[in-house]
Amino acid sequence: MVMTFSFKFIIIAFMLLTILASQATCLNSSEASMTVKHEQWTAKYRRVYKDATEKAYRYKIFKKNVEFIESFNKVGTWPYKLGINVFADLTNEEFQKAYNRYKPREGGKSTPFKYGNITSIPSSMDWRHKGAVTKVKDQNIEKCGSCWAFSAVAAVEGIHQIKTGELIPLAEQELVDCDRRNIGCDGGRMDYAFEFIGKNKGLATESNYPYKAITGTCNKSVTHDAKISGYEVVPANTESALLKAVAHQPISVAIDGSSLGFQFYKSGVFTGHCNTFLDHGVAVVGYGTSKDGIKYWLVKNSYGIKWGENGYIRMQRNIKAKKGLCGIAMDASYPTYLEDDSNLRTRRRELLESIVSLFPSEKSAFPVNFLSCLLRAAIFLGASSSCKNELEKRISAILEHVTVDDLLVLSFTYDGERLFDLESVRKIISGFVDKEKSVAVFNAGDFREVSSTAMLRVAKNVDVYLGEIASFPELGISKINGIAVLVPKEARKIDDDLYRAVDIYLKVQ
Ligand SMILES: *[C@@H]1O[C@H](CO)[C@@H](O)[C@H](O)[C@H]1NC(C)=O
Ligand SMILES: *[C@@H]1O[C@H](CO)[C@@H](O)[C@H](O)[C@H]1NC(C)=O
Ligand SMILES: *[C@@H]1O[C@H](CO)[C@@H](O)[C@H](O)[C@H]1NC(C)=O
Repeated sequence: MVMTFSFKFIIIAFMLLTILASQATCLNSSEASMTVKHEQWTAKYRRVYKDATEKAYRYKIFKKNVEFIESFNKVGTWPYKLGINVFADLTNEEFQKAYNRYKPREGGKSTPFKYGNITSIPSSMDWRHKGAVTKVKDQNIEKCGSCWAFSAVAAVEGIHQIKTGELIPLAEQELVDCDRRNIGCDGGRMDYAFEFIGKNKGLATESNYPYKAITGTCNKSVTHDAKISGYEVVPANTESALLKAVAHQPISVAIDGSSLGFQFYKSGVFTGHCNTFLDHGVAVVGYGTSKDGIKYWLVKNSYGIKWGENGYIRMQRNIKAKKGLCGIAMDASYPTYLEDDSNLRTRRRELLESIVSLFPSEKSAFPVNFLSCLLRAAIFLGASSSCKNELEKRISAILEHVTVDDLLVLSFTYDGERLFDLESVRKIISGFVDKEKSVAVFNAGDFREVSSTAMLRVAKNVDVYLGEIASFPELGISKINGIAVLVPKEARKIDDDLYRAVDIYLKVQ
């Protein structure tokens, strides 16, 4: 606090001195107020000049820019205003050269466009209101031309929130450091970034891999979030295709951000002028129509919140030129979400577990083949053991109605290429045998009763089943044996099927 106070005091003192000095040397009042403006501006943006020569040079540029901005705003016929911002002491040439580092593609590229057939599109969209947009970030453009990373990350943060409900700020710095097809602070492309994130199995969170505004060494020991499968491009040079895409998720676009109007944009709907030499990456996070009836794209930039409308720019939409304003429709792309193991699978597993937990207590409520299918899905999805136990118990209870095919369904992967889990089959059979034994003991105290008709039927099926799986290479004789011995010997009037199974096994191995 003390520091801040004395800092402010020095500035005020300096401003007074400047005014007094200008009166003393008879500068006219507009010149004097410009000097004050420059002092205020350098304090606000903490700009430090290395010597008086540089200061005088920057002052001249500042003055020219401020005069341009003020005269532009005075005209009053434009739907947007300019403002004196962080770029006020740079010439437009410097701004272009130093900051915007998007690398345009040589030649077009086409991919599937999954939103191509969409017909119903809302009249406006603002992904910020749907919680899919993180706060505006600052790439620190004086140090790092990483606009491409900020554009790509905004689109990935968006699709991740849309698919999972979680808005997690992700790490631009990981892209800057690790994505070798792009060139860190010297520039890059969003589609390369999406490809990298796809192969990388996601991106670190911003808090685990904070932004440093330099090209650093890749830290490979971070965990990754927000998996995407890759990307698609929006068909070029049609704003209506871009609209379909933005209606579904935030989209990365390249624009020509080199104009003076863009450099000093403050508020309203930006209508140009600008060229279409794509040099800047940003993200379209919505669209709408202004109070004066001008259609616009809502664009998230990465120049911090002091630029534009709290870091955003509204850019005119549906213009005559096919490329869109500043080329916004020329090179748009978006990440596609990975519906796999970690996401879809988790949701399916949770659904299955909750269904099984809601089963009525009556054991024979469901047919065997239905239970077999659920158990197979439970094994495949890695469901909890309580979920699997419940299904195994229910199948055990009615095992005499189970066919060889039902047992086979439980034993193979979905493509039938591989054996996957004999443990459930083992538990089902032993559950059944235990039940039969306890019934027999209860009835007569005689184990011979174990060879009931149901038991005989099960014994036969188990042996045929073992014959069917015996030829699989990953099966060990101990596993065949482990299942075979579950069935009481007395239940096998003849051992033909079991011998045949063992025979097959020995021949194949
Ligand atoms: C003040 O000085 C500037 C040049 O330093 C000049 O262009 C401007 O016309 C002057 N304004 C008045 C009101 O004399
Ligand atoms: C769009 O519609 C066409 C024609 O009906 C069809 O061939 C195409 O597969 C559809 N594309 C998508 C992404 O659904
Ligand atoms: C890499 O990231 C991990 C996790 O955030 C961190 O603990 C570690 O210090 C980082 N390593 C380097 C070299 O920055």
